[in-house]
Amino acid sequence: MNLPNLNDARKRTKEKVNILENYKITIEQKLIGKGKKYYVKTYGCQMNEHDSENIKAILEDMGYSSTDNLEDANLIILNTCAIRENAHNKVFGLLGRIKHMKQTKEVMVGFGGCMAQEEVIIDEILSKYKWIDFVFGTHNIYDLPNIIEKAKNKQEIDVFSIEGDVIENIPVKRDSKYKAWVNIMYGCDKFCTYCIVPYTRGKQRSRLPEYIIDEVNNLIKDGYKEVTLLGQNVNAYGKDLDIDYNMANLLEDVAKTNIERIRFVTSHPWDFNDDMIDVISKYKNIMPYIHLPLQSGSNKILKLMGRRYTKEQYLKLYNKLKTKIPNCAITTDIIVGFPNETKEDFQDTLDVVNKCKYDGAFTFIFSPRIGTPACRMKDEILLEEKEERLQILNDLVNKYSKENNLQYLNKIVPVLLEDYSSKNGNYLKGYTDTMKLVNVKADDNYLGKIVNVKITSVKTWSMDGEII
Ligand code: 5AD
Ligand code: SF4
Repeated sequence: MNLPNLNDARKRTKEKVNILENYKITIEQKLIGKGKKYYVKTYGCQMNEHDSENIKAILEDMGYSSTDNLEDANLIILNTCAIRENAHNKVFGLLGRIKHMKQTKEVMVGFGGCMAQEEVIIDEILSKYKWIDFVFGTHNIYDLPNIIEKAKNKQEIDVFSIEGDVIENIPVKRDSKYKAWVNIMYGCDKFCTYCIVPYTRGKQRSRLPEYIIDEVNNLIKDGYKEVTLLGQNVNAYGKDLDIDYNMANLLEDVAKTNIERIRFVTSHPWDFNDDMIDVISKYKNIMPYIHLPLQSGSNKILKLMGRRYTKEQYLKLYNKLKTKIPNCAITTDIIVGFPNETKEDFQDTLDVVNKCKYDGAFTFIFSPRIGTPACRMKDEILLEEKEERLQILNDLVNKYSKENNLQYLNKIVPVLLEDYSSKNGNYLKGYTDTMKLVNVKADDNYLGKIVNVKITSVKTWSMDGEII
């Protein structure tokens, strides 16, 4: 048994990051899932979604086949998220349902991801969820064949609070045939005071550029149209490598592969330099869309959050992006109700939203995460007040989102049609270069194609259009 430890998770040393090919599977392990079905439920961010693509590929390598129906599964894995309390609640809700299932049929249950990296959660699993067959963390997904093999006999808990290596040979089963996630780095060293991620995912480790470019070239060969470069903090890419190579260099090299569309998430305003902006504006295949988390518009709160920029610096960067990158759409993340946030501080946030008129924003009420500095800060704001602030913020965000969308009416925009629309079987859905969701009447032949679409109507979160 290996249990997570917050103190170890916090440590950052100068030790070299190892690039390893640790994924291995024996002939016996390849037969474990023969005739059996798996169901993977993913919570949280794109990083987790991509981890699930690795988990699914490993399970298929073990002989399992996939099912979309929880009740049909012989093996259920929850890939969890720890970022806010409500992410926890959803996971525990589903565990309740699975416990019932387990009383009527034989099903193996695995618990992985960011929640598994939390000491408090593991304590709870050890005391109240003894029926969970295995627990694994974010650092040892590659070891699933061994973990599952051992879990056949007794509850297996294998979570490492280490700074982390880079494992280069984990297989992947991608959810889409047209757009792909590509990890460019793992972990995070920023330690914003509210955030659990530096504890759950270890230190910042950039992948070597040659591995990334190889992956993109292989995706092009397989017919992929779009890649999203993934990292908790993509602008800091390369800072931990011994080579003189940064995010601007990487973006340029990925652009030169000629893949049709390149995106990247998530940016931190701190490391967004002019070289990056120049590269984004120079290459047509780098999409004019940036997710630029603000978190708060108050300098006092930004300081308490450990964000390392002021409202003024953020606005300066925002304006530079808007002027230098033609047609650039910008979205953001905002937290309300951070400890000590006064009405005036909240007003400062609204002020920035009024200035930036974002294309969209993810908004959250502050959720204390055990082990983070903000969790120990005195928090005297009533939940009612926080909810009210969230509502005011959401109304403003929605207003600007709709206003931005209205500017697309009757315009012709490029859309990569990626899937069937949820609204109607005769419709396909896709995203513009600026990351606007568009529903288009079109048949299957258009799947995976980038087409010019005339926008015929707009709503707050999506648009309808016709192929030109
Ligand atoms: N409480 C509320 N929101 C949080 N986020 C991260 N940690 C917390 C927390 N403890 C938000 C931030 C981040 C997004 C992914 O989630 O806005 O950018
Ligand atoms: Fe959730 Fe953060 Fe982990 Fe992603 S990295 S799954 S958002 S806690």
